Amino acid sequence: MPSDSLTITDNRTGQTYEVPVQDGAIHATDLRQIKVEEDDFGLLSYDPAFLNTASTRSAITYIDGDRGILRYRGYPIEQLAEQSTFLETAYLLIFGELPSREGLDKWTDEITHHTFLHENVKQLMEGFRYDAHPMGMLISVVAALSTFYPEAGNVSDPENRLLQVQRLIAKVPTIAAFSYRHSLGLPYVQPDNELGFAENFLSMMFKIAEPKYEAHPALARALEILFILHADHEQNCSTNAMRAIGSSRVDPYSALAGAAAALYGPLHGGANEAVLRMLEKIGSTDRVPEFIETVKHGEGRLMGFGHRVYKNYDPRAKIIKQAADEVFEVTGKNPLLDIALELERIALEDEYFVSRKLYPNVDFYSGLIYEALGLPMAMFPVMFAIPRTAGWLAQWLEGIVDPEQKIARPRQLYVGAEERDFVPLEHRAGGELVAV
Ligand code: CMC
Repeated sequence: MPSDSLTITDNRTGQTYEVPVQDGAIHATDLRQIKVEEDDFGLLSYDPAFLNTASTRSAITYIDGDRGILRYRGYPIEQLAEQSTFLETAYLLIFGELPSREGLDKWTDEITHHTFLHENVKQLMEGFRYDAHPMGMLISVVAALSTFYPEAGNVSDPENRLLQVQRLIAKVPTIAAFSYRHSLGLPYVQPDNELGFAENFLSMMFKIAEPKYEAHPALARALEILFILHADHEQNCSTNAMRAIGSSRVDPYSALAGAAAALYGPLHGGANEAVLRMLEKIGSTDRVPEFIETVKHGEGRLMGFGHRVYKNYDPRAKIIKQAADEVFEVTGKNPLLDIALELERIALEDEYFVSRKLYPNVDFYSGLIYEALGLPMAMFPVMFAIPRTAGWLAQWLEGIVDPEQKIARPRQLYVGAEERDFVPLEHRAGGELVAV
């Protein structure tokens, strides 16, 4: 009879153990009973990059990487991108269900009325150098917000948690836009409460002297779609950081600053910039075959291709490709698009990419849209952080109320020196500081 358990034989001792299998997983602590000696610590599993370790149960985002499926709370990403708005999707991620008309109005109203920053935050931002990276500014200013809202540390109170969630979703775009304006030496543009989420962001970014900034509806909609697509992606590097920091019960501003720092890295939020640099380096479509050959010979990677989870076309890349066409109708075609299309065409037919299941990922086309919207490359990770704030917060909330959550604290396999006696200074050799 099949049983929902796993039988393990320890060949070191000949002993057999049975551990339960639940939801396709064994509990790592069940391995601890496996010992050679009675006073052993017990067997550990070693998984430095969490390649095969589920760190949580989650009901937020579902990904099937082999089939190219992404769903938020059960809703396919394609339907959300076509029919939803960013704030509605954020509500869905946070509360678990799509809002009623009344619920959406209240939510929108709350977010809209929390978009302003305290004047002292502006002064803090003015302290940055003129060439400060906007992502570095965003991380610092989000962390600083915890000092403006000290009550946020009371993470056990649901009402208080909700207030901070609303503040963060509302204020991150304002901080993002102010960081951009700071880099240009332009005055900050205050939020316009009459505008929608994407329109207001574009206004805070690009308004100059006109009494009211009116974004082109097609561009605002494309941005809204990009925000929806980037809102969550289950347990990735930055979300894992958010949950791990949140598990210490610190306030969500501090936790979110840590998550944003993880996103800043080139292996996570920085790949779309690398795509644009690659396209610029290739320069023209006739040089694409030559470039593909260099990649196949191991000289660099085809940026925007491949994914740890997706072994099929990233569903987000398909939607972005469509949105790019709509943006280019307004802005004129980005000349790099033809190179991207040719790269994709050749790579999808090439045995090297086909056999390794390398398909375009979310970053392959998103940079082209950002560039067409007039955004500098330094803003690309910031554009990722704005919508991901909703996902980070949904995951943080889920962790806070999870009865199984404890402070995140992995084990290690100690491989250092055995116990040894302290050596007095005069008996020690060497003197160089060797970089490690
Ligand atoms: N170009 C050429 N070869 C590649 C690429 C690529 N973009 N990606 C993977 N490969 C090859 C790799 O060389 C290896 O070949 P072999 O088996 O012969 O050694 C094989 O495919 C498997 O690669 P891997 O490094 O084991 O795959 P991974 O799951 O560890 O890496 C990845 C995933 C996204 C880091 C990688 O595909 C990559 O570096 N892509 C380019 C960077 C990029 O576009 N990153 C954005 C990711 S999506 C945004 C996000 O979620 O943050």
